[in-house]
Amino acid sequence: MKLLQFFAFSGAILAFAGMAGCYGLGGEVASDGAPATPNTDAPDAGGSPGAGVDVFGGATTCTSGQSQPNITTGDGYAGMDPGQACISCHSQGEGPSFILAGTVYPTGHEPDNCNGVTASDIKVVATDFTGKEFPMTPNSSGNFFLQNSRRTPVSFAFPYTARVERGGKVVEQMGGAQKSGDCNSCHTEKGANSAPGRIAAPLPP
Ligand code: HEC
Ligand code: HEC
Repeated sequence: MKLLQFFAFSGAILAFAGMAGCYGLGGEVASDGAPATPNTDAPDAGGSPGAGVDVFGGATTCTSGQSQPNITTGDGYAGMDPGQACISCHSQGEGPSFILAGTVYPTGHEPDNCNGVTASDIKVVATDFTGKEFPMTPNSSGNFFLQNSRRTPVSFAFPYTARVERGGKVVEQMGGAQKSGDCNSCHTEKGANSAPGRIAAPLPP
């Protein structure tokens, strides 16, 4: 029964993702790299310092071509619900307590539950108010998190800034300081609260 629900549900997600143009490394992503069209709508004026790729100009796509089933209750796992606001759900009493949590994607607009980046050379680094750095490595769904534990509490001073590195080089930087650690609450498919879209780790040009 549980298994059946799983398949029925992931099928639905895949079907939906297909409609949304989820064809792996297909047309939209590739054309996105063309330098002909100037990037007018990317709010991070600094752009993508390392890559020189406009990751926020394209249409929604699920670059990985793989999605996770939607989980709302019961058993969770570290790669669950990529793209969704981790902390707003976990803070309702279920799941571990996170200080920061989110998902990194190869492009700026990807649907919920689509797997993000898996490249091992990508790191998300948060710098807290005292200047202390907290590096996080995305897992096989692109999810990353800084977990708090009752036994050994992590001291993290808000507000913070954050950046994405590939091979030690900054590819995306959040200039403004944030008071919420729930990255995906702003870094949604289309972007909320002035965020340009997903937390992006552009593919090398
Ligand atoms: C809609 C609710 C919801 C969302 C959204 C959600 N989770 Fe969970 N998470 C859960 C529940 C429920 C559990 C299981 C809690 C338990 O077993 O006590 C869980 C458990 C976990 C666990 C523990 C797994 C283990 O082995 O014990 C991790 C890690 C986790 N979630 C990470 C994340 C991350 C990262 C995100 C965001 C990308 C996220 N979750 C989004 C509800 C959610
Ligand atoms: C309350 C909303 C909010 C939260 C929460 C938030 N951000 Fe952002 N983020 C923004 C806004 C707005 C921008 C664009 C302006 C700027 O650069 O400050 C941005 C830009 C970025 C960028 C550069 C552009 C991009 O999307 O790749 C990165 C990287 C980033 N944020 C990482 C993070 C990480 C990592 C977290 C969680 C640890 C996080 N953000 C949490 C609002 C938010």
